[in-house]
Amino acid sequence: FDANLKMEGSSGMRRADCRGKGGAPGFKVAILGAAGGIGQPLAMLMKMNPLVSVLHLYGVSNIPGVTADISHMDTGAVVRGFLGQPQLDNALTGMDLVIILASVPRKPGMTRDDLFTMNAGIIKTLCEGIARCCPKAIVNLISNPVNSTVPIAAEVFKKAGTYDPKRLLGVTMLDVVRANTFVAEVLGVDPREVDVPVVGGHAGVTILPLLSQVKPPCSFSQEETENLTARIQNGGIEVAVAKDGTGSATLSMAYAALKFADACLRGLRGDAGIVECSFVASQVTELPFFATKVRLGRNGAEEIYQLGPLNEYERAGLEKAKGELAGSIQKGISFMSK
Ligand code: NAI
Repeated sequence: FDANLKMEGSSGMRRADCRGKGGAPGFKVAILGAAGGIGQPLAMLMKMNPLVSVLHLYGVSNIPGVTADISHMDTGAVVRGFLGQPQLDNALTGMDLVIILASVPRKPGMTRDDLFTMNAGIIKTLCEGIARCCPKAIVNLISNPVNSTVPIAAEVFKKAGTYDPKRLLGVTMLDVVRANTFVAEVLGVDPREVDVPVVGGHAGVTILPLLSQVKPPCSFSQEETENLTARIQNGGIEVAVAKDGTGSATLSMAYAALKFADACLRGLRGDAGIVECSFVASQVTELPFFATKVRLGRNGAEEIYQLGPLNEYERAGLEKAKGELAGSIQKGISFMSK
């Protein structure tokens, strides 16, 4: 289509090539599912990111329009669109970072299991493409249920012989972003000054904010702790209710996805001390995957931090989180062994 042809034309290629040869540092980023509710604002934010030199937008509908629109922004990144599975390999080849948002919403008559199977199949296909075309790329996996899609992606990469656990990162940043915001509200401070570790997974009780480890150091009453924990765990519902059934969190998620992707790119560049929470292969608990703080470097999650001291409320929360997480992880692994 037009935008694609135009962006893949010679002048676009020359710009990208120059940058690779000693120009400003730039990374190649693909967004899969780029024309959706999160994808569109995320594409805009990534086009504004000076660390991005090439931005590939892949999806199964609306890609030409979004690509044309984003490509008119006078920022550095070269934008190219890729529509439909025959263009998947071209979208992925040479990428440093791949952000996965692709999924389908539940349709009338579909059971939860139908929906799971459908979305698990989409993740499988996309990860097979990554294994084929950019096996060294860092993967930011956002498509839900993250607690299951990350194990699915790991199994796909294992089968392909390309699995590097450091490079597969489940994105739980929205939980952290919400936690920082809600805690800042209670403390009456600027949210940019607040750092709340959120561990476990990315659904309901598996989302475990560690309010005893908030920076700057502070303390909460039991009631505050319970209310904050519940609000962080149910942040998605708060948005869905406010949108009155017409949508879910897309704008705050696009912001969170940008924040996480930017941290990964700074790690790739070799910046020191980049630490964020992510759902990764882990030995912090007995579960094969778990979200904790990780240090991001040239190879992805280069160091995985322990949980640190938990109070009694958090220890109880951890047990609940682990119980539910175990089932979700197994569901992902079972999908791949069928
Ligand atoms: P959406 O339905 O608006 O967008 C999904 C996009 O994926 C659509 O453009 C669709 O055409 C595309 N798509 C469908 N099948 C595809 C395929 N086979 N290949 C490539 N693209 C395909 O959904 P939205 O709101 O953008 O959410 C995306 C995902 O992110 C969902 O799974 C959602 O549950 C998840 N999510 C994750 C969060 C997190 O914190 N990790 C927070 C919020 C949402």
